[in-house]
Amino acid sequence: MAAHNFLKNSWYVAGWSVEVTKSLFSRTILGESILFFRKEDGQVAALANRCPHRFAPLDMGTREGDSVRCGYHGLTFDTEGRCIAAPTARGRVPDATIRTFPCEERHGLVWVWMGEPHRADVTRIADLSEFEAPDVRHASGGYLHCAVNYQLLIDNLLDLSHAAFVHPIFGNMSMCEAELTIKTTPDTVRVDRWMPGCEVPLYLTGLFQPGSQVDHWLDMLLYQPTNMILYFGVAAPGGSRKDAITGLASHLLTPESETSTHYFYSIAQPRHLATDADLQIAHEAQRTAFTLEDKPIVEACQRMMGTTDLMSLNPIILPDDSGAVRARRMLARMVRREMTNAGRATDDGDATPETSQIGEDSFA
Ligand code: FES
Ligand SMILES: [Fe+2]
Repeated sequence: MAAHNFLKNSWYVAGWSVEVTKSLFSRTILGESILFFRKEDGQVAALANRCPHRFAPLDMGTREGDSVRCGYHGLTFDTEGRCIAAPTARGRVPDATIRTFPCEERHGLVWVWMGEPHRADVTRIADLSEFEAPDVRHASGGYLHCAVNYQLLIDNLLDLSHAAFVHPIFGNMSMCEAELTIKTTPDTVRVDRWMPGCEVPLYLTGLFQPGSQVDHWLDMLLYQPTNMILYFGVAAPGGSRKDAITGLASHLLTPESETSTHYFYSIAQPRHLATDADLQIAHEAQRTAFTLEDKPIVEACQRMMGTTDLMSLNPIILPDDSGAVRARRMLARMVRREMTNAGRATDDGDATPETSQIGEDSFA
């Protein structure tokens, strides 16, 4: 696996808001075990989950108001990370501080900033406000742990041609013939898949005659480095998109380690198209597809690759890989730039935005 392939100066999903309570809760993010809990005022605190005495995990300790007491010898830390009590230190509280992490609660999620604290800018949190629009229903809370590098999951989501083979309910062979349009901005990659006049997917045969044709689209927007929104829709051939069945799904990836990832997901649809019960069924279908179909194949790929980086294995690059290849290149540039700029007061911008139809892109 390539070293340093995490972008640290970025917001990552630490968990759904409902997961973080006044009880101590830990999650490993970018290889660091982090302790989360809600303070008395309801704000989220995030601290390194490791006591600097004998390195006991602090989540085995006790929350006492807005501080945490280690469960081994009782060192106590406030939410600034300062050691404020040491019952066994004979009156001399060690001058010790543990790392804290900027946190922000937005879109029903707790976000954590993994880089230099002075660069934490909440305007850089992925914009998921469409899931909170008043005319939309949202089924959230999906979580899956995957024993796979996060970039392999991004590859999977930016190349939905796999649905033809992995998801028999959602996909069919029409997925292999999609017209692709790829657009990039300095921190996004969007892969639009347009499938006019394609065979209706099996999961929609209750709404369309089996074997009939539909216009189908699946547009995936990646906010670098790891958060995605899928915009999907199905319409009668040549029909207006405003009469279509549409929705959007979040795919939010947080690297746990080089070979494991936290996968948070949700789905939303316009209120006039889906009841709460319909949406729960769709959310359950997401869970089934990700757990029983995507997870086994991507984890198997990871096992076959071991810890070797994908690109160093010289993989065949197919047209549908185009978006993922661009996303990887862009992220590699961002990581390189971050390493170059480490310690500087300001950051440089990224590449010029670009758009291409498939066939215009270079896969080299
Ligand atoms: S390990 Fe935490 S106080 Fe000893
Ligand atoms: Fe999939």
